[in-house]
Amino acid sequence: MKKILFSLALTALGAISVEAQQKPVYLDATKSVEERVEDVLQRLTLEEKVKLIHAQSKFSSPGVPRLGIPELWTTDGPHGIRPEVLWDEWEQAGWTNDSCVAFPALTCLAATWNPEMSLLYGKSIGEEARYRKKDVLLGPGVNIYRTPLNGRNFEYMGEDPYLAARMVVPYVQGVQQNGVAACVKHYALNNHEINRHNTNVIVDDRALYEIYLPAFKAAVQEGGAWAIMGSYNLYKGQHGCHNQYLLNDILKGEWGFDGVVISDWGGTHNTDEAISNGLDLEFGTWTNGLSGGVGNAYDNYYLANPYLKRIREGRVGTQELDDKVRRVLRLMFRTTMNPNRSYGSMTSEAHYEAARRIGEEGIVLLQNRNNVLPLDLSEVKKIAVIGENAIKMMTVGGGSSSLKVQREISPLEGIRRYADVHHVEVVYARGYVGDSTGEYNGVVTGQNLADSRTPEELIAEAVKVAADADCVIFVGGLNKSKGQDCEDSDRKGLELPYGQDRVIEALASVNDRLIVVNVSGNAVAMPWIDKVPAVVQAWFLGSEAGNTIAAVLTGDVNPSGKLPFTFPARLEDVPAHSIGEYVAERKKEVVDVKYNESIFVGYRWADKQKKVKPLFPFGHGLSYTTFAYSQPTVNDKVMTPDGKLTVTVSVKNTGDCKGKEIVQLYVSDKKSSLPRPVKELKGFRKVELAPGEEQEIQFTLTKEELSYFDDTRHAWVAEPGKFDVLIGASATDIRGKVSFELTDGTNK
Ligand code: BGC
Repeated sequence: MKKILFSLALTALGAISVEAQQKPVYLDATKSVEERVEDVLQRLTLEEKVKLIHAQSKFSSPGVPRLGIPELWTTDGPHGIRPEVLWDEWEQAGWTNDSCVAFPALTCLAATWNPEMSLLYGKSIGEEARYRKKDVLLGPGVNIYRTPLNGRNFEYMGEDPYLAARMVVPYVQGVQQNGVAACVKHYALNNHEINRHNTNVIVDDRALYEIYLPAFKAAVQEGGAWAIMGSYNLYKGQHGCHNQYLLNDILKGEWGFDGVVISDWGGTHNTDEAISNGLDLEFGTWTNGLSGGVGNAYDNYYLANPYLKRIREGRVGTQELDDKVRRVLRLMFRTTMNPNRSYGSMTSEAHYEAARRIGEEGIVLLQNRNNVLPLDLSEVKKIAVIGENAIKMMTVGGGSSSLKVQREISPLEGIRRYADVHHVEVVYARGYVGDSTGEYNGVVTGQNLADSRTPEELIAEAVKVAADADCVIFVGGLNKSKGQDCEDSDRKGLELPYGQDRVIEALASVNDRLIVVNVSGNAVAMPWIDKVPAVVQAWFLGSEAGNTIAAVLTGDVNPSGKLPFTFPARLEDVPAHSIGEYVAERKKEVVDVKYNESIFVGYRWADKQKKVKPLFPFGHGLSYTTFAYSQPTVNDKVMTPDGKLTVTVSVKNTGDCKGKEIVQLYVSDKKSSLPRPVKELKGFRKVELAPGEEQEIQFTLTKEELSYFDDTRHAWVAEPGKFDVLIGASATDIRGKVSFELTDGTNK
């Protein structure tokens, strides 16, 4: 009996051990990611490893079919999930289940100054990505707004590194909660589009560390981004996608990034640099397609056969390869091989609501003389809506962020919806013809906007309509066509295109209740500003554009956005164009572009110049109510290097409707060994207040907020001495000041 029992036990044990043997470590979710990565690594052949580090189609890279390791699917990003394209083409695959919700452009998100909106944005777009079975979202973008001519500014978060850093972190976290990687782009110094592959940026270390890198660093270190995209441009003579300084020294070295560096599409140029200078995953290198006859064109990528050949010939070892593969596998375990990730959701009402809320908080009321806004619909009978942007779909175009949306409400439609409720008549006139086309990579808007009338005829019609209305809403600005807010092109100047200034002037001369709604991702010149009582900065708002604009114009929503970048009065007031360099021609050879303005970007330059008065300053935005600020106080007049300082200020809603105010904290270093900006944003808080309500806000300062980057020591330094804390409603509307001293920590 004993014997039988013993042999039964042995059989059971045998079964367990066979089972244990059969379950490889990499499939065992109880094991750590690092253990699983190492387990896969030692199972892979050299060829399989090399396959893992380059694309197999426009947007995917292979897994390891033999081991059941899935492919990795990427998608643009950053405002919605891009429609499916053909295997190796930019053209549409023709799917019918790939329409998405378009969220507002990232400039609008930055203009909310509300990290909760960023989290909502990231979570929502991450859910859409997940539902569409995408593993890597190609976004968000945080390149600093250096010039208003940059065609891609609408995809970024403005001119200030602190604001961009605070806003990018929750976006990344929100996306990644879904088991989808955020791929932060374009790292780094991709600050204009023309000549983007051939621009070698010359920038000093102070500007690099203080202005251009902080948002990337925050995305990596605080947001925990799992991927980052190298930029097209060069820095120190090396392309951003294989750049020893940016990728190996800073990103992976100083910041400890353990994720994947993905090349921008077509941004890889050299196998040796790609091997040794930090690139992990190559995408978009030009191929002649799978139909072109070279077998698999992807085998010819820089990190494909040319790499294999070097290894086989013993010209390079496999240490770099293993590092790249480890990173790619780590990304897979975080995304495709994470058994706990959710299923996502798409085109849900919750996503439309998120798009609307973000838009509502991002719209900026720039000017509101005579309280022309909000429009009281019970008091007007007829509204004239003028302008192409009132009717043009804005989600198609602009480059890789172009979308195929399930629905997009135009401004005219949104205004009509609100007006209808109050039986207010809405009359529309075109005013000008901009770009009547509407197509991107085969996605068509389906709108027929062709109009052959002359500018004079269009203006005459608009003026007639405007003269006869109680108020006029002009909806214009830029669009997503080449040469405007569009990838791979820059604007020619600061002016509004298509003769819009003339139209606005004409409208202003016949109706003094004129509201200009500027739809753009960039600052524009406003030579008519004194003749127009109300101006609204409406950004590209995505699917809910019309509803969002109408809600703000009618006061259903009280505007609470503030500018994430300066609106200069003239292009010459932008340091990149006055003392720095900006090269506007396409060149075949590499061109140096010197950022001579150094750290003095945006309001840092305006402050330094003193006489340069921006059209609208950084941080500016009005509300339908008013806010009063108390004098700020500090809990101590001295701060030690390792100490903390609490700044307290109260804000009160002194108007008669509910509203949100963005309280801004700037730090001003009174004396320092190296030149410093007059002041720098180091804190902000958005608070909602009912009429009469007051709230106390506290900010904590540490030495981090007081430091500058000392390039001679290659270190952040908080220099002892006197500092002012400035509390403001914008960069030029400072409401209070309090001073303190940073000691050197010794008891004297
Ligand atoms: C853009 C990237 C984009 C990629 C894939 C590139 O041209 O610069 O931002 O993610 O294409 O579409």
